[in-house]
Amino acid sequence: MLERKLLPMMGNVYQPRLARLVRKHQLSGDTTLFAFRFEDPDQARRFTYRPGQFVEVSVLGVGEAPISISSTPTRPGLIELVVRRVGRVTDALHRLEPNAAVGLRGPYGNGWPIEKLRHQDLAIIAGGLGMAPLRSLLNYVLDNRAEFGRLVVMYGARTPDDLLFKDELADLGARSDLDLLLAVDQDPTGTWNGRVGVVTTLFEGRQFDPQRTYALVCVPPVAFKYVAAELTQRGFPGERILMSLERKMQCGVGKCGYCNVGHKYTCLDGPVFSYWDAINLPGMI
Ligand SMILES: Cc1cc2nc3c(=O)[nH]c(=O)nc-3n(C[C@H](O)[C@H](O)[C@H](O)COP(=O)(O)OP(=O)(O)OC[C@H]3O[C@@H](n4cnc5c(N)ncnc54)[C@H](O)[C@@H]3O)c2cc1C
Ligand code: FES
Repeated sequence: MLERKLLPMMGNVYQPRLARLVRKHQLSGDTTLFAFRFEDPDQARRFTYRPGQFVEVSVLGVGEAPISISSTPTRPGLIELVVRRVGRVTDALHRLEPNAAVGLRGPYGNGWPIEKLRHQDLAIIAGGLGMAPLRSLLNYVLDNRAEFGRLVVMYGARTPDDLLFKDELADLGARSDLDLLLAVDQDPTGTWNGRVGVVTTLFEGRQFDPQRTYALVCVPPVAFKYVAAELTQRGFPGERILMSLERKMQCGVGKCGYCNVGHKYTCLDGPVFSYWDAINLPGMI
């Protein structure tokens, strides 16, 4: 695998590069979009990545966390990360103000296999925070729209307030070159005009050609098996269901063994796995 071959050539793989917070924007109650720029202009120019890869972000004096890159390499300059506040590092990130310094190292992981996806139909299926790594792919596809076939985006969240990127969703909804389908599990405020139900309910009435469609899935762990069941019942082969699966990580570069599942390291061989791979790795889903 390319990343495995390149890692030993990258010098000290643990050394983060200094980046500055350019702006932050609250997306929901506990989730914020952060845009960073490398301090060194050469580093900023050189840094490239594949949608679906992640970086290790360090908050100085606090610690490090793996976070998916949510921006697209087709719009270079800023590195956007969508972070949910759950603990020490993510809480410290949320307290940063513009111009604060962080460390970034990476990009790590395999990412979505763009080469395989070209000229294929795509069904992007996101739940909650799963929109973060899929937004990178989605914007990549939109920036190269002619290279991809039919595009369906299905996105579910707990409540309307929990839907991330509401402005961008409004723009997507107005486009004629994709189908955007949204659902919320509950509508406590009674203001939602769309579908109420789990993300799999968005499949109702939809037809896909499973031999020319890739399903790109990032949903909360509990929902993976339901989405996979829906897709396999519809005839999707296991290799055409691609899932971004998270594991707790430390090094991010295949050294510590923390993210190991069977004979795979999630940080090197993943986080994107085919459903076929995932069901053959006990404990992966
Ligand atoms: C490849 C990858 C990509 C990720 N992308 C994103 C992203 O785009 N946005 C985002 O907000 N988070 C993402 N995460 C999860 C993020 O790394 C964790 O939420 C973060 O490390 C928690 O660190 P903390 O110090 O804030 O929390 P801690 O104080 O370490 O822990 C707080 C709570 O979070 C749980 N937790 C810690 N790490 C993880 C983890 N990896 N997965 C699930 N629960 C965890 C702990 O069990 C604990 O309950 C990703 C994780 C991986 C492995
Ligand atoms: S996180 Fe250390 S081996 Fe994957």
